[in-house]
Amino acid sequence: MGITKTGFGTAPDGQSVELYTLTNDNGVVLSVMTYGAIVTTLQVPDRDGALGDVVLGFDSLEDYIRDTPYFGAACGRYANRIAKATFTLDEVTYKLAANDGDNSLHGGLIGLDKVVWQAEETESDDSVAVSFRYTSPDGDEGYPGNLDIEMVYELTNDDGFRITYTAATDQATPINLTNHSYFNLAGAGTGDILSHVLRLTADRYTPVDDTLIPTSELLPVAGTPLDFTTPAAIGARIADVPGGYDHNFVLPMVDDGELALVAEVSEATSGRVMEVFTTEPGIQLYTGNFLDGSHLGKVGIAYQQHYGFCLETQHFPDSPNQPTFPSTILRPGEVYEQVTEYRFGTV
Ligand code: BGC
Repeated sequence: MGITKTGFGTAPDGQSVELYTLTNDNGVVLSVMTYGAIVTTLQVPDRDGALGDVVLGFDSLEDYIRDTPYFGAACGRYANRIAKATFTLDEVTYKLAANDGDNSLHGGLIGLDKVVWQAEETESDDSVAVSFRYTSPDGDEGYPGNLDIEMVYELTNDDGFRITYTAATDQATPINLTNHSYFNLAGAGTGDILSHVLRLTADRYTPVDDTLIPTSELLPVAGTPLDFTTPAAIGARIADVPGGYDHNFVLPMVDDGELALVAEVSEATSGRVMEVFTTEPGIQLYTGNFLDGSHLGKVGIAYQQHYGFCLETQHFPDSPNQPTFPSTILRPGEVYEQVTEYRFGTV
């Protein structure tokens, strides 16, 4: 078990960027950098014990700065979309940065994926971790309040990659944090993920309009291509989903805030399996629909459509404008907390 730290270049604002590489007792390797708290590498064994990198990404910081579809990034202050880049809270209307048509996506123009985080290494008996801290100032991308965020990225000896998010504010503000890793359990860049088999515990989803904003309904997945309550290949019914999967699923909450197993993905050739545990009420399944070969990923491989899938644990999109959705408002004196773990194994 151990952690190494190396320089990874310079951010656009002149700050130096560090890359931390965490290794657990089983040889699993997780690399994360301080720019965007981005996961750059996650090497896990296949059924024969051979390590493979299961997350999409780039070789250099410059590539991440130039143009990335949020590969491996921390998303916030509000992951996913806020309609028309505006919301009203306690009778005050706030205007956010619009970066997805008229909507705000993943925190705006300079979200948490594009700032340099302060990092600190920690180690316990059964895990190695990096703790990232950042204070998003009052008015950042239009959001109210100084928001102090901590995210602990932990690699456990039972091959779990666990993220523990906490935050506090000095003014009421919406918050919704997630991680935007694109996974391919056969190995990043080896092909598409359509034959990966997915099970999701969600029995409902939040349908969206043509700008991907929820209509407010919670509809059953039963009888639709969104039903993964019985394991199914991601590609089996994708032709019936215009554009591919990009949906928020409503998770059955066990107890508010309790860590629950919500998704399992397996890949037959490698035998790799990933389980997803979260405290959150929602999960976005995004199948890399907008990847089009224009991003040259690690070792120069062009990432084509569906080369990766994301399972972004979250609150529902546009909750600040949707009074019937679980609240995403954090008030002074409260602590925001979300825990998500991606755990790896083989069959
Ligand atoms: C969203 C997609 C978006 C993608 C950006 C996902 O979380 O659901 O609509 O295009 O992020 O890479």
